[in-house]
Amino acid sequence: MKPINSIIQEVRSEAPSIRTFRVDRQLDPAPGQYVMVWVRGVDEVPMSFSGPDAITVQSVGEATQALFRLSAGSSIGLRGPLGKGFVLRGEKILLVGGGVGTAPLAFLGEQARGAGLEVTSLLGFRSSEDLIFQNRFGALGDTIITTDDGSFGIPGRVAAGLKGLDLDEFSQIYLCGPELMMWDIISRCKDRANKIQACINRYFKCALGVCGSCCLDPEGLRVCVEGPVVMADRLLESEFGRYRRGPGGGKGLCRG
Ligand SMILES: Cc1cc2nc3c(=O)[nH]c(=O)nc-3n(C[C@H](O)[C@H](O)[C@H](O)COP(=O)(O)OP(=O)(O)OC[C@H]3O[C@@H](n4cnc5c(N)ncnc54)[C@H](O)[C@@H]3O)c2cc1C
Ligand code: FES
Repeated sequence: MKPINSIIQEVRSEAPSIRTFRVDRQLDPAPGQYVMVWVRGVDEVPMSFSGPDAITVQSVGEATQALFRLSAGSSIGLRGPLGKGFVLRGEKILLVGGGVGTAPLAFLGEQARGAGLEVTSLLGFRSSEDLIFQNRFGALGDTIITTDDGSFGIPGRVAAGLKGLDLDEFSQIYLCGPELMMWDIISRCKDRANKIQACINRYFKCALGVCGSCCLDPEGLRVCVEGPVVMADRLLESEFGRYRRGPGGGKGLCRG
């Protein structure tokens, strides 16, 4: 699949290091699917859809910083939508997100509300400065927010917000965020891992299922085509939450 040329229509600042880019293409993605974004002359990197025509990006390195230098009218290449997205199940669902990982969940929540589902959100951020999409989630239903530094909502990690929830009420839990945060939630909810859909990240190169860069030990699950949304029971005995491979294929510790 060749990247298609797309023009950025709008750049919106969500937080000091997070921006949403709206493009002129309706690629008809499902929430949880991703797109390979070609920043010309720099790199091609995976980004989840935060809306039908939008991605929400945290600036962390060369490609994302280059993206931040673009404005409305600039062009980028887009290859997608790719991978398996979230599947809506049941009538009452819980979204659990951390940081920029809340972006695909906002898109999912809007689709779920449109389909008549009851949506509760549990969202974690480092501090009040990093909070994104408060209005989008607020419009969906009950929203619980945690911050690591206690500057907004419940002080502590996302898991601190689980205490006030009866998880039996939810037919499905949708999870996206930093790997250690997701692993913390999955470890605490092992008995319901078959009801958790987790949107996970690995180092993507081809995004076609051929290079092996994104494979998850020991099953060899190709996250770029068989994911990025995976049922959490498949992650329990995997490398997830323990280590991940970098650009050279070597193992490194999970961070975040
Ligand atoms: C399926 C998927 C969806 C993603 N969705 C989002 C999103 O919605 N918003 C967002 O801000 N970020 C998202 N990311 C992460 C994003 O791809 C990286 O932050 C980006 O590639 C960093 O590139 P860089 O050149 O700016 O930074 P670098 O300095 O090159 O890398 C910084 C870190 O980003 C990660 N990274 C770099 N290149 C890749 C790659 N090709 N594949 C996977 N991870 C990489 C690595 O962990 C690396 O340590 C997603 C990743 C995946 C796999
Ligand atoms: S990124 Fe190449 S197989 Fe997944």
